Amino acid sequence: MSDSATSATPATFPHSFLWGAATSAYQIEGAVREDGRTPSIWDTFSHTPGKTAGGDTGDIAVDHYHRYREDVALMAELGLTAYRFSVSWSRVQPTGRGPAVQRGLDFYRRLVDELLEHGIKPAVTLYHWDLPQELEDAGGWPERATAHRFAEYAQLVGEALGDRVEQWITLNEPWCSAFLGYASGVHAPGRTDQQASLRAAHHLNLAHGLGAAALRSVMPARNSVAISLNSSAVRPLSPDSAADLAAVRKIDDLANGIFHGPILHGAYPETLLESTSAITDWSFLQDGDLDLIHQPLDALGLNYYTPTVVSAAAPGAEVPRADGHGASEHSPWPGADDVAFHQLPGERTEMGWSIDPTGLYELIMRYTREAPGLPLYITENGAAYDDKPDADGRVHDPERIAYLHGHLTEVRRAIADGADVRGYYLWSLLDNFEWAYGYEKRFGAVYVDYASLERTPKSSALWYGRAARSGALPE
Ligand code: NOJ
Repeated sequence: MSDSATSATPATFPHSFLWGAATSAYQIEGAVREDGRTPSIWDTFSHTPGKTAGGDTGDIAVDHYHRYREDVALMAELGLTAYRFSVSWSRVQPTGRGPAVQRGLDFYRRLVDELLEHGIKPAVTLYHWDLPQELEDAGGWPERATAHRFAEYAQLVGEALGDRVEQWITLNEPWCSAFLGYASGVHAPGRTDQQASLRAAHHLNLAHGLGAAALRSVMPARNSVAISLNSSAVRPLSPDSAADLAAVRKIDDLANGIFHGPILHGAYPETLLESTSAITDWSFLQDGDLDLIHQPLDALGLNYYTPTVVSAAAPGAEVPRADGHGASEHSPWPGADDVAFHQLPGERTEMGWSIDPTGLYELIMRYTREAPGLPLYITENGAAYDDKPDADGRVHDPERIAYLHGHLTEVRRAIADGADVRGYYLWSLLDNFEWAYGYEKRFGAVYVDYASLERTPKSSALWYGRAARSGALPE
């Protein structure tokens, strides 16, 4: 247990605990054609008819590119102490290669300076799903060269911001980039090729390793380099069924082991190589890759929303695919046609995701065991609800308060049980572009009126601000 954790009482969090909020570039910035930015795969995808709800795009999003000062002031007023945002690769390197565009970097420098002036600690994510379109045209993540391009980009951003940003995250949820982007196709670039998705996963891992090394080569040693994984708490529908437990093993490999295996332990799980052997021989895994991927990490980011509940199904049979990852006739789980996915009975968020804070505790304790001594951050956690202003213009979201309270309680329990969790970033600061769901799903603690772009803190934002200021959860 960390020193600060031992000094906290059971109800309060450690003094140094970071109370943050998270966002990502394409989901909030807008200004997609300004200051030299060129299209990313999400611009192309969202402008393709039928790919997003209502044909929504990130063209304007919540106009954070022009309103970042207002947004930082809002965070400061609420009492937040940390902010996780992502850099748009297409602003920094419009073609995905070559020297940096100064105007692109300048935006992030201004944002970081604004945060620091308000006493808010920035955490930079380098890749939150918006690959420059030119790199996708050259083959995208299934191509090894993309990992090298990422390392060059990481170095440019590290050089520009490494003197003022201590916390760095290479990739956000590479599972989504690989499997929603290249297997089920519900995310950009919308390809449906299982073999390509496994190649993409490996090259994302390689990008993480090369990117971490590139960052370290240009940044002060005190800076921390991490990755944010959407690690899943995978559970059997029937705990007594051996077949369901085998389904858990398979999905755990595809959801978790495929990333934390090479990153934390320097190897892919043998069982993963076997379960995907009909799809690929993994010949894209070259000698030396695992050493490159297995870089020392300074911290691990966990994003958590809902558990994954699976059961065994007869191969080829119609199986429920309620995995919460959108509707597609193509599965995002290569080699797992014999697995069915379920949501738990009981309460769900507006995404249809069942609510189970114990999954977060379970994951924290798992990584505490698997990677002893590695500091953990909850880099995302939150919920979508159908929020609307009342007659007085206030937005009451007691369900979100309950969701946050439940999950933060589990974080605190994990700290008490010895986990070194250093901070929590609520997803999300603002209502924003929820990818294929467009603006329909509101994850923000701050309500955004999409007509006027006016921001109104919901009651959950005020509640969370009180928690941040006092270091304890208000009832
Ligand atoms: C994870 C992703 O990182 C984020 O971009 C997304 O909006 C949330 N989950 C909610 O789905």
